[in-house]
Amino acid sequence: MPFSDEQRARTIARFEEHRRAWAENPALRALYAEWYGRIAAALPPPALGPRVEIGSGPGFARQFIPDLELTDLVRAPWHDREVSAEALPYDDASLGAIVLFDVLHHLPSPRKFFAEAVRVLRPGARLVMCEPYVSPVSYPVYKLFHDEPLALRVDPLADQTGSDARDPFDSNQAIPTLLFGRARATFESAFPALTIRAVEYFAGLSYPASGGFSRRPILPMPLWSLLRGLEARLPAAILRRTAFRILVAIERTL
Ligand SMILES: C[S@@+](CC[C@H](N)C(=O)[O-])C[C@H]1O[C@@H](n2cnc3c(N)ncnc32)[C@H](O)[C@@H]1O
Repeated sequence: MPFSDEQRARTIARFEEHRRAWAENPALRALYAEWYGRIAAALPPPALGPRVEIGSGPGFARQFIPDLELTDLVRAPWHDREVSAEALPYDDASLGAIVLFDVLHHLPSPRKFFAEAVRVLRPGARLVMCEPYVSPVSYPVYKLFHDEPLALRVDPLADQTGSDARDPFDSNQAIPTLLFGRARATFESAFPALTIRAVEYFAGLSYPASGGFSRRPILPMPLWSLLRGLEARLPAAILRRTAFRILVAIERTL
């Protein structure tokens, strides 16, 4: 069902709000620069085919990966086109890469999206996603202080709602953790054409300390930078238990 003018206006106002928060928050900009850098490093070369971001929202990707086509379910002036993740307007085997940044956990039908990704990606092309990760340390923070729901007892490939009139910001923060954690084997057997090439866990308490999009940084910048520097030295096993973010790089191999 198409969105009403009121829903569109509300969604674009939210993108604008995030653009303002981003412009005022150097800690958030530093984190996004690192995270988009991780995405860029996981992408195949541009020569493989066009690279598209789904759910670009405020459009921060433009400054980090300039050749990405920016799209969203609700088109804003800085997007290249309006695209639904569950019905991609691209030909079979036509894309070199798809990027999702904080989008998988908002999709009403992850299964439909992955089926579409298999259809439009070329062999060797990649889907790269950066999403929330629910670790022992991030769980209480996401559960108590984040305005998005977090439900661990769900099937992450099932339709997340029966309603067509869903808001684009509806979500379950746990979907990526479940899908690439306890449901990984189910994902792999549902999509044999896709091979998980990399899973990275990163960003500890420096992320909530940045204030995110709803608050100002809760530490002065020099202290915040110190915390971030210390986190970067943590061994991988500890980092995983404190991580707030996950990056997953998946390749179409069949
Ligand atoms: C949390 S925002 C992330 C925006 C941006 N990627 C960023 O990280 O700044 C989630 C985005 O996903 C978009 N979205 C939600 N459902 C979608 C769908 N089914 N197809 C395409 N985009 C969708 C929303 O409109 C919103 O822009």
